This record gives sequence, structure tokens and C-alpha cells, in this order.
Amino acid sequence: MSKITAAITGVSGYVPDYVLTNKELETMVDTNDEWITTRTGIKERRILKGEGKGTSHIAVPAVRELLRKTNTKPEEVDLLICATTTPDMVFPATANLITAEVGAVNAFGYDLQAACSGFLFALATGSKFIESGQYKKVIVVGADKMSAIVDYTDRATCIIFGDGGGAVMLEPNTEGLGIQDSILKSDGTGAQFLHMKAGGSRKPASIETVQAREHFAYQEGQQVFKFAVKGMADVSAEIMERNHLTGEDVAWLVPHQANKRIIEATANRMGLSSEKVMLNIQKYGNTTSGTIPLCLWEYENQLKKGDNIILAAFGGGFTWGAIYLKWAYDPK
Ligand code: UT7
Repeated sequence: MSKITAAITGVSGYVPDYVLTNKELETMVDTNDEWITTRTGIKERRILKGEGKGTSHIAVPAVRELLRKTNTKPEEVDLLICATTTPDMVFPATANLITAEVGAVNAFGYDLQAACSGFLFALATGSKFIESGQYKKVIVVGADKMSAIVDYTDRATCIIFGDGGGAVMLEPNTEGLGIQDSILKSDGTGAQFLHMKAGGSRKPASIETVQAREHFAYQEGQQVFKFAVKGMADVSAEIMERNHLTGEDVAWLVPHQANKRIIEATANRMGLSSEKVMLNIQKYGNTTSGTIPLCLWEYENQLKKGDNIILAAFGGGFTWGAIYLKWAYDPK
């Protein structure tokens, strides 16, 4: 029997309608379009508006679109993993809210938290359930409502984040397509540079924590930038090397969209020209777990069966990693 690999057989995405432009941010904090554009590459980002709406309200439309595109009945889904740093609630898992809402009554689900690398960690995890032969249809979601934890008085942080997400279907493949290799890393000594101070078991919510604005993402941007440039480039080069790939062999880099300068540094290190680099940071900013599936969704029509694709991310934790996959289908 030929070896089973886990292939992406469909991809979908969802971004909320509201567009928060650099111009509007100029009215909220002391910043300007020129600074944001040159330092990050971001022009606008989407915001999920509305009382009582959380990350599942981004994930559910994405999963519904995925089921439709892959002709999958909700009851056929075996497992749904949701990578998110902004779950609807501390518990239950957002994955459970999603499966209930879309009618995936036979699926089990759980959330996975690895900040901006969450989608990669979830994709690697989901692929193992397929490769083992145990399951046939695994959905991996990456979605975040970052506006829920962004401090819109902190100009260095609020300009980079946005809301959005996407989903992929993983199914068994016997042609050698799909996920080939992954390198995932984490280093908790980086926690000091990017974290949320309160709301966890160490420091539960109180009047004091709210007044001290401790329920927002805290980021020391320069420090994170330094580690991100090195981490994402190192791991991308490493995965190419150990799979004997040159820049010529790679059809696409799908980088986490945190800062255009980090993406360019990674592409340079890999020897890739800019036409091979997926980029939508200008429209959506950093949607944390959402960036990579949103890129795949937008570029899906340009991907061809057999394309060598490298996904790469860096995020809070610190967490970082790269996945090498062979795309499994031609544009439909
Ligand atoms: O996805 C998760 C991982 N996160 C990341 O990968 C983010 C990595 N970090 C970054 O992308 C960048 O560090 C930022 C975009 C967050 C900040 O850019 P930077 O080039 O590192 O700026 P900085 O924090 O070093 O600030 C430079 C200057 C400072 O002014 P002074 O002290 O030089 O006078 C800041 O006060 O720019 C100022 N500044 C701003 N000015 C206008 C900071 N934010 C802004 C702003 N508008 N929004």
C-alpha cells in the first residue's frame, strides 16, 4: 500500500466588512499613513463589529464556504482544529462552537494556541491524524478577532493587527502530494516581549487589571521584530536545505503577514523573487492565526498541482516554524 500523506483539498477565507484604514487610525492615535506604510506595509485592516460577536463568527462562514467548495457534508467531518489566540470564551473551545454551528455532528474538535504560528502548528497536528490512517476529513481553521485584545491607545501595536481567518480541508493522498515536512519551534523566554498580562489564571480579571489596561496584547515591537526576522528566515532556509530545495524549486512562499520587512528578509534568505511571495498585508494587516489561510485563499487560483510551497510564521511565545507541502490540485 502506498504511503498516505495529508493534502489540502480546499481552502476558504472570511474577513469582516468593516475597513479600518490608516486614515481612520490617524484620528485615533498619533500616527500617519506614511509611517505605517513604510514601517509595516499595511494600508488597511478589517474589524469585526457587533455586540456578542467573536472569532467563531469569522470561522463559521469560512468553514461553510469550505464545505461547499469541497462538496463535503458537515456530518462527514471527523475533526476540526481551531488555531486562535482570541477564543470566543476561555472555555469551551471555539472549535466546539464552530462544529455545532455548521452541523459537524460527528466531528470532535479542539483549539490550539500558538499565537501567530497557530495555523502552522494546527496544520502539522491535523496532518498526523490523516497520515495515521485514522481519519479522512480534518478541517484546520486559523482565525482571530484581534480587535478584541488590541489597545487602540497604543500606536505601536494597534496599527498592525486586524480580524479575519480561513480554513483548509485535509484529506488522505496516495500520490505523494500534500504535507511533506515541518519544522516547529518554541521558546518561552520570548514570552516577556509579547503577551497579555491579565485574564489568565495567574492574574484573573479584576477592576485593577481593567484599569491598568492589562487585557490587551502587550508587545515590545523592536525585540519581536529582531527575533522574527531571524527565526522565520532561519527555519525557512532549514526546511529548504533538508528537502534539497533551491529558490528555483519553490513556487510560493506563504509567509505570516506581520510586517512586510520581515517577509522580505525571509524571501531574500530563501533566494525567492517577490512574484513568488504571497502578500496581502496591505489589505488585512496581521490577523494572527488567520494570515496564512487567508493568503492561500486569495492565491488559490494561481496554485498548480505539484507546486512546492513553503509556509512560514513567527509569533508570540515565541513560536515559529515552516511547513513544506506539495499543492494537490489545479485551479478549479
Ligand atoms: O505577528 C506577531 C509578531 N509580531 C511582529 O512580528 C511584529 C514585529 N515588530 C514590528 O513589526 C515593528 O517593531 C513595529 C511595526 C511594531 C514597530 O516598528 P519599529 O520600526 O520597530 O518602530 P519602533 O517601535 O522602534 O518605533 C520607532 C519610532 C519611535 O519614535 P522615537 O522613539 O524614535 O521618537 C516610536 O515612538 O516610531 C514611533 N512610533 C510611531 N510613529 C508613528 C511607534 N509607533 C508609531 C506609529 N506612528 N504608529
